[in-house]
Parts: sequence; structure tokens; C-alpha cells
Amino acid sequence: MSITTIEIPTDNKMQFLQETLIGLKSEPKFMLSKYFYDATGDRIFQQIMDMEEYYLTNAEMEILQNQSAQLSEAISADGTAFDLIELGAGDATKSIHLLKSLLDAEMEFSYFPIDISEHVIADLEENLPKKLPALDITGLNGDYFDMLKKATELSDRRKVVLFMGANIGNMTVADAESFCFSLKKLLSPNDLLIIGFDLKKNPQQILAAYNDKGGITRSFNLNLLQRINNELNGDFNVDQFEHYASYDPATGACKSYLISLKKQIVNIRHQVIHFAENEYIFMEISQKYSLGDIDQLAAKAGFTPVQRFFDKNRYFVDAIWRVD
Ligand code: AVI
Repeated sequence: MSITTIEIPTDNKMQFLQETLIGLKSEPKFMLSKYFYDATGDRIFQQIMDMEEYYLTNAEMEILQNQSAQLSEAISADGTAFDLIELGAGDATKSIHLLKSLLDAEMEFSYFPIDISEHVIADLEENLPKKLPALDITGLNGDYFDMLKKATELSDRRKVVLFMGANIGNMTVADAESFCFSLKKLLSPNDLLIIGFDLKKNPQQILAAYNDKGGITRSFNLNLLQRINNELNGDFNVDQFEHYASYDPATGACKSYLISLKKQIVNIRHQVIHFAENEYIFMEISQKYSLGDIDQLAAKAGFTPVQRFFDKNRYFVDAIWRVD
């Protein structure tokens, strides 16, 4: 007797397949870095954040640890109640400092963490109240914009949106502009956005963060090929691809690629992808900004810059913008 398992693709898997094939059939080839984060990718990203070369996490953590009282003051300046909505809340290890300061200042607010991962939201709803019993929390599981829209329908309080972790850097400047503009359209005049940017700095330091000696970023990128093998029946020979990172100080674009080490063919669900020797797949952009670039982005998207919070090395900035 033989048993055949027919795998019925879920919507998410369908989208993963379609977007992967579009990227690999394009010229030049590309992949979407949002797909880095399967369970293994999450684990490798955690290792990246613990790496010596990856200064971003510590820099933003320092801002939240040392300046949450000032951030809280800036947010609460007019004393009215508000909804604090965090896009991509993760485990809230940074935002917990801000939440604590807001509670200490006896501000009237509700916290709405948004995350695409159901288990992240369930964890936050279970664990944050244990640490901050006074916190009013409602987790929203889903797409940023859908959930932000939902939050605006849930209450008519003013909104303060948190978008930290330099996640804006994983968009091109043009995409960041349209993302911020779409955000602004869901908000009302005088609502606030707190947004984290990795700043332009010594190019060697930036490059080292994305080309670490231990090869963790390399594994992070190669894991997406492995994920395609596991979830989309791909047959990538992962050893035949090499990680390449570059940083251009003129544009602030830090880009990572996978290079095909030989002429080869990869099959994904009966689709054949041809690689020439040394052909690249563009994997991810981590855009770096100057303070001028950040103000320009704010203006283009319809915000006014209000205040900036830096770490002591000025590697990173959390900027507060107000909706015009
Ligand atoms: C999530 N994001 C802000 C990280 C970054 O720095 O662009 C993702 C990352 N990619 C490689 N290292 C870290």
C-alpha cells in the first residue's frame, strides 16, 4: 500500500511560493527579506542581535533604558489619554521601559501591540501583565495596516505609533516614503509616530554588522534557501551559494546578496530556475540615514519632526514625528 500525502497550500504558503517565484524569475533575481523569519530565522536573528558587531540593538536599548522618562514626557505633553500602538512589537524588551515610564507617570493609555505572529501576541498578552500589572493591553494579530485601522476603529483617543528596531531600514527610501505616507493617512492631525533609524556612520562599522566574522549573517541569509527547500519543495544546494554584503556610504544603502558559486539549476514545485556562475540574488536592504535624510522623509510623508533621542555614541536615533 502506498500513501500519498497531498499538501494543500495555505494562503500564506501560496503567497510565499508566488513571491519567491516572481523574485527568482526576475532579472536580476531577488528575494523578500520578510521571509527570513521562520522559527530558525528567528533564532538566528536573536544571535545576530547578540553579536558584537551588531551595534543596533544595544544602541536603541540604551535609548529606551536611559531616556524613557523623557520619551514618556514628550508623548504625554498635552496630558490627554491615548492609544500606544506598536508595529512589530516582538517580545517588547525595548518598549517595556517606555511602558513602565508611562505607568510611573500615571498616564492614561492603552497598549496595542501589533505583530504578524499569533504566538508573539499571545505571549505578550500573557506575560506583560505579570511584569506591569497596571497595563491595559490588547494584542492585535495581523498585518500592520489592517490592525492599525482596527485600532483606530476601537477608540477615538489620539494615537501614538511606535515603529522601532530600524525596521524602516529594510525598505528602500522610496518604499519607506510610501509606507510612512500610508501610516499618516490612517492617523489624525497631532497623532505621533516614534520611529527608529540606524544612522550613517563609519562604513567599516556598518559593513562589519552585516558581514560578521562568525558567519551568523551568512547563515541568516542562507536559511531562506533552506526554508524554500523545506516549505516549497525546493532543491537549493545551499553550499553552492555565498553571502556577500556591501555598504555604499554615498547612498546609505547596505545590501546583502547570495552569489551562485557555479552554473546551476534549482527546482521549486516544478518550476526550473537557472543560475549562471556568479549570478546574484538580492536579499535585503538595510538603509542607513543621516538626520537630514530623516527630516526629508518626515516632510515627504506629511509629518513634522518634533524631537530626537540618541544613544551616547550617536549610532541610532528614535525620532518623534507629529502628523501635520
Ligand atoms: C530587522 N532589521 C532591522 C535587521 C537589519 O539590521 O536590517 C535585519 C538584519 N539583517 C541582517 N542583519 C540584521
